[in-house]
Amino acid sequence: MRVMQTVRTSMLCLIVITAMTTAAAGGDKGRSSGHATPLDKKTEDRARYVIKIAGCNDCHTTGYAGAAGKIPEKDWLKGDPMGWRGPWGTTYATNLRLYMQKLSEDQWIKSSRSVESRPPMPWFALRVMTEQDLRAIYRFIRNLGPAGEPAPAYLPPDQEPLGPFILFPSSPEVSK
Ligand code: HEC
Repeated sequence: MRVMQTVRTSMLCLIVITAMTTAAAGGDKGRSSGHATPLDKKTEDRARYVIKIAGCNDCHTTGYAGAAGKIPEKDWLKGDPMGWRGPWGTTYATNLRLYMQKLSEDQWIKSSRSVESRPPMPWFALRVMTEQDLRAIYRFIRNLGPAGEPAPAYLPPDQEPLGPFILFPSSPEVSK
């Protein structure tokens, strides 16, 4: 009887410890950069507006233009497997829901001031955005949470894309 009780107690301990370890490991998904600043209504509305008029969804949300923008917000900015092929190679609009998880808010501000992505990403639009708008976008996307799969990897010009792509018929000398 005594023995059984000890066995039962230690099994219970084991279960509790396992549960605690699992919770700890799951809490920080291993690559998340902590919690984003909470989103207030004003910031949320501003971010939604900026994202809509800057056209981020046009490329970073599958089917957005075809659906005339009628894609639920929970499906926004998950990247797109449609390739953009030109003299620069083939690029794919990044999954921003995953991308933002890897950056802190301040890292995002820093990178949007210096990043020079390949076409057709309008990185120069990020440069002229106010810091306030960039922060709003970050909080909005972090608030949507991580979702979707990473976009296909960039392919250099000599590699044939496997999936669908849009060809830019620009002359070869107009490289990047
Ligand atoms: C015309 C299509 C298009 C539009 C519009 C667009 N993007 Fe992109 N974006 C891309 C593509 C394609 C890439 C991948 C570029 C590469 O591989 O170098 C990309 C990459 C990015 C990246 C990753 C940058 C890096 O290299 O680390 C960020 C962040 C990003 N876009 C944010 C935005 C935001 C925010 C908006 C709206 C203001 C936006 N994009 C609008 C096509 C677009």
